[in-house]
Amino acid sequence: MSEKAVARSALQRILITGAAGGVGTILRTGLAALGWTVRCLDLRIPDDAGDAEWVVGDVTDSATVLAAMADVDIVVHLAGIPKEDHFAAILHTNIDGTYQVFDAAVRAGVPRVLYASTNHVVGYYQRAAFADRPLGTVDRTRPDTLYGVSKAFGEALGSYYHDRHGLQVACVRIGALLAEPRTRRMLDTWFSPADAVRLFHALATAPNLGYEIVYGVSANPTAWADPEPGRRLGYVPQDDSSVFAHRFAGLPVDPDDPEVRFLGGDFTTATPD
Ligand SMILES: NC(=O)c1ccc[n+]([C@@H]2O[C@H](COP(=O)([O-])OP(=O)(O)OC[C@H]3O[C@@H](n4cnc5c(N)ncnc54)[C@H](O)[C@@H]3O)[C@@H](O)[C@H]2O)c1
Repeated sequence: MSEKAVARSALQRILITGAAGGVGTILRTGLAALGWTVRCLDLRIPDDAGDAEWVVGDVTDSATVLAAMADVDIVVHLAGIPKEDHFAAILHTNIDGTYQVFDAAVRAGVPRVLYASTNHVVGYYQRAAFADRPLGTVDRTRPDTLYGVSKAFGEALGSYYHDRHGLQVACVRIGALLAEPRTRRMLDTWFSPADAVRLFHALATAPNLGYEIVYGVSANPTAWADPEPGRRLGYVPQDDSSVFAHRFAGLPVDPDDPEVRFLGGDFTTATPD
């Protein structure tokens, strides 16, 4: 057997919740290409479902989630509302849904959960405070929305399940996971699709994972997020946003604009649709 085949055979089954969404599409295709056997859970099957196994169901349904975790080695929990919304919706999907996923992982004997948190758990920090030093992952959270609050809950829930049940947990504070940055602020937070696959693969394969919070960003020269927690776990980003910087050069910069003032940008003024 070739070395490549041996390495691939060591990879196991990964369950991705919210797999039909933007991040889910990037991870389910990227991780499958690296050799993972991917099972997808979502409310719907997308047109580009590919060869993965699909479970149609709601992450707030404990029986569905538990059944989806049969023979699973790693859970990547993405399913959720990815922006500000009314509290009832946030409570249902992001808080109850995340509880059901962590709880089912322990009951199903899945050893490791990778949780999609967000940079909006620290969105109310002022950008100017991090001109000369990065923001770490041990500083207190400062959510900029009820959405950000729900993700801080998920990080705390993961910590609890690690301490109480020994679950291995990595919370990824995802930045702007898009093909290209769309705003000047995203030059700081851009997370290229290829780097996202690199980070989640690194977290899925890292030995001796306990409980970790890492920032999901590329090697952007203007990043305010501390890259060290990710690097310690084997994440080596290969993209950076500097190639897009010229698009935003020369635009006026108003220091009172929330997009300039806060790490979370205009999420600090966001209201539900
Ligand atoms: N896209 C980003 O840049 C970004 C940044 C930070 C954090 N995140 C987080 O990553 C995750 C995915 O974000 P996205 O941009 O792909 O969002 P998305 O809206 O494109 O995808 C979310 C997916 O979750 C599914 N879903 C929603 N409720 C569900 C439920 N109750 N049961 C099962 N599936 C459900 C949806 O059908 C959808 O396919 C979210 O948790 C989001 O908060 C994303």
